[in-house]
Amino acid sequence: MNRPSDIGLVGLAVMGQNLVLNMASRGFQVSVFNRTPEVTDAFVAAHPGQHLAGFHALDDFVRSLARPRKVMLMVKAGAAVDAVIGQLVPLLEAGDIVIDGGNSLYTDTERRDAQLAALGLRFVGAGVSGGEEGARKGPAIMPGGPDSTWDELRPIFEAIAARVDGAPCVRHIGPGGAGHYVKMIHNGIEYGDMQLICEAYSLLKAAGLSTDEMAAVFDRWNEGELQSYLIQITGRALAQKDPQTGLPVVDLILDKAGQKGTGQWTLVNAAEQAVVVSTINAAVEARVLSSQKALRVAASTQLQGPLPAIGGDRAALVAQVHDALYASKIVSYAQGLTLMRSMSDRQGWALDLGGIASIWRGGCIIRARFLNRITEACSADPGLQNLMLAPFFREVLNRSQASWRAVVALAVTQGVPVPAFSASLAYYDSLRTARLPANLLQAQRDFFGAHTYERIDRPAGEWFHTVWPEVI
Ligand code: 6PG
Repeated sequence: MNRPSDIGLVGLAVMGQNLVLNMASRGFQVSVFNRTPEVTDAFVAAHPGQHLAGFHALDDFVRSLARPRKVMLMVKAGAAVDAVIGQLVPLLEAGDIVIDGGNSLYTDTERRDAQLAALGLRFVGAGVSGGEEGARKGPAIMPGGPDSTWDELRPIFEAIAARVDGAPCVRHIGPGGAGHYVKMIHNGIEYGDMQLICEAYSLLKAAGLSTDEMAAVFDRWNEGELQSYLIQITGRALAQKDPQTGLPVVDLILDKAGQKGTGQWTLVNAAEQAVVVSTINAAVEARVLSSQKALRVAASTQLQGPLPAIGGDRAALVAQVHDALYASKIVSYAQGLTLMRSMSDRQGWALDLGGIASIWRGGCIIRARFLNRITEACSADPGLQNLMLAPFFREVLNRSQASWRAVVALAVTQGVPVPAFSASLAYYDSLRTARLPANLLQAQRDFFGAHTYERIDRPAGEWFHTVWPEVI
């Protein structure tokens, strides 16, 4: 008989398997259960000598766990999570902890948190980022749920998480659905980063750089301010050749982007709170338009525009695209942080934005050197209203803005779509415009609906109405 297990994991798909192996490799005894028993048996058999115990019956699995029991679910987000919780609940005791490590919608997590709390159980929605490799070698983990669960889970999560400068990439994010919410924002930002990189690629391609030349550009960028996992894998992906044809693999991949919904959830949440996340919005919409391949192919023969062919000094263009990418990325993170701050205030979550940026430095998909700067900016000024106004980022934006404009202008002239670059630049310009044309908009509202307006020459809060001429 094995010693009681430190934790149990349900769901042995690839993420679940890798998390289990990560836990076992750190000396934790792990019980595993999968809906299909053969999967459990094959997994345990494939890893002899590890601290693993496989079970075919859920009650045996639960009995094998040390109290308070910790059961981590790595099943598909949605109905499957509720189904497994439904099976587990009768087998658990007061104080036991159920952890959902999938990409669940935070409102589902809030609902499950309340449901389990009413039964005396504890529920933790934990965002886990880093893909298969991260799960095995060290992901970033964003656990929410009751404070009391953190003491119980901390030793395991800190042991399996990625580390940066000795610090584990995990922290208790906040109550209820806060962990899954922050993972959703992570994914929204991931969408923004990926689209911005694709727009840079698109411009370099229009300038005639070969795929190998572009791979070299991304490799070089990864040595500097843009250093990040996504820039790194972009360089690697561009360099990859197809064994059958010898052509770059990326040139053979159909240009239809998939998405599982976390980016759209971010947009819905932002719309609910009237927070602008225009870079993420552009990124989600770019994926949507990319998926309409047949329509685009048809439109390509009917709607006119220039055939992109960017000439001129390539090295200068590469430098400008670098600056446009970096500046746009800063805007995207500023927007994501603003959204988190708004939600934190609304929900009373007290999210530590600097702390969140610090756990994103390792393990997760958006890991990047510049996250250090976000942590520094948040701790230097906890009331910082917008990341773009922090001295470090303000300086980068000010020195990049000329190149950024040149790149967007060039793209527009050449007919190269750069929705995320241009949305980011428009946000930058809107934010730095002291007087926007909303005066006219207020006039229009007052004209057709007597909605009233404030005046620049009278104190705020005094409302005026003009008797406008009649229009028939
Ligand atoms: C991560 C990733 C991961 C997953 C995305 C992909 O942090 O490890 O974000 O969660 O790869 O959900 O999402 P799409 O399929 O929507 O691109």
